[in-house]
Amino acid sequence: MRPRALAAVFALTLATTLPAGAADTLRDLARKADLHFGTAVDVEALDSDPAYARLLAREFNLVTPENALKFSVVQPERGRFDFTRADALVAFAEAHAMRVNGHVLVWDQQLPDWLTQGHFSPDELRAILHEHIRTLVTRYRGRVASWDVAAEAVGEDGKPRDTFWSRGIGPDYLALAFRWAHEADPQARLRYNDYGGEGAGAKSDGIYTLVADLRTRRVPIDAVGLQMHVSLSDAPRAGDVRINMKRLAALGLQTDITEMDVMLPLPASRAALRKQAVLYGGMLQACLAVPQCRSVSTWGASDRHSWIPAFFPGQGAALLFDADGRAKPAYFGVRRILRSAKAGKH
Ligand code: G3I
Repeated sequence: MRPRALAAVFALTLATTLPAGAADTLRDLARKADLHFGTAVDVEALDSDPAYARLLAREFNLVTPENALKFSVVQPERGRFDFTRADALVAFAEAHAMRVNGHVLVWDQQLPDWLTQGHFSPDELRAILHEHIRTLVTRYRGRVASWDVAAEAVGEDGKPRDTFWSRGIGPDYLALAFRWAHEADPQARLRYNDYGGEGAGAKSDGIYTLVADLRTRRVPIDAVGLQMHVSLSDAPRAGDVRINMKRLAALGLQTDITEMDVMLPLPASRAALRKQAVLYGGMLQACLAVPQCRSVSTWGASDRHSWIPAFFPGQGAALLFDADGRAKPAYFGVRRILRSAKAGKH
């Protein structure tokens, strides 16, 4: 991001500050239910789309950079770190009293070529990953409240996935990553984050086994993120999600719904939008029923800035606000449930 663009983000930051006492937004109702309500943020759009920035500030009290802290963005060349976008988001969040979730330290996508094609030895890779984690987590110590330390390390069959990191460092890479993150910021809440294991099944069991093993070995992990990228036909049952959250809680782990979206065939019919609202509401209720579930985040705020249409042609309309920032039935459903949530349920 250019300096002038950055200055514009900061100016906008001031211009979009909520009036004191603004009520009945998701963030306000979530706070009363002792929950955080969040979204992934496209930091480029913060600069180019003022209405988007206003929407974020009004409705959400937790933000996750959608791409700004990924390896290829933040360390495009070995040892050269670029925090321009991440800094802009953290400043925006602080100006609006939002919590920040750092995303993501160990993942096998969005890795730079210098890393994947570098033919590094296991010792070199360990040193590179340690330095990467230390640099990011130290920079935002006390400002980024939680980190997705690792993501998507379990396969559909429930077994550990063969990834760039597992091949390069060996199976202990996950434990090392959590320990290094904890060393860099002992107060940060450290999370494992995955998709497709939210309810019942082999993957959910595999994630449970993985994090149970980390807990047994006293690896500093605090929470499990259930991503919840779903469609109307492949969503888990909310009851199974609640049961899964409870068994994770029994291990001493908090949970979050971290990346929820519900993709619909385009153009979205009114019936599909209603079913989408029911699905969002069901997952929120599952979270509200488990004291250790601390937040619900959607993977984007409005359908204008959503990854779905680019990755699933013909699908979209997956979020709570339409492309013009208008609230959809899912928004009103979520708001109704938050409004009736018992205060201080956690
Ligand atoms: O920024 C470049 C731009 O310079 C270039 O011209 C353009 C050409 O393709 O690409 C742009 O980068 C894209 C980036 O999004 C920013 O828009 C990447 O190609 C694209 O792959 C990347 O997609 C992201 C995806 O992760 C990567 O796998 C999505 O935005 C992001 O929503 C998605 O998020 C993931 C979570 O991190 C982990 N869980 C699953 C979730 C959905 O896949």
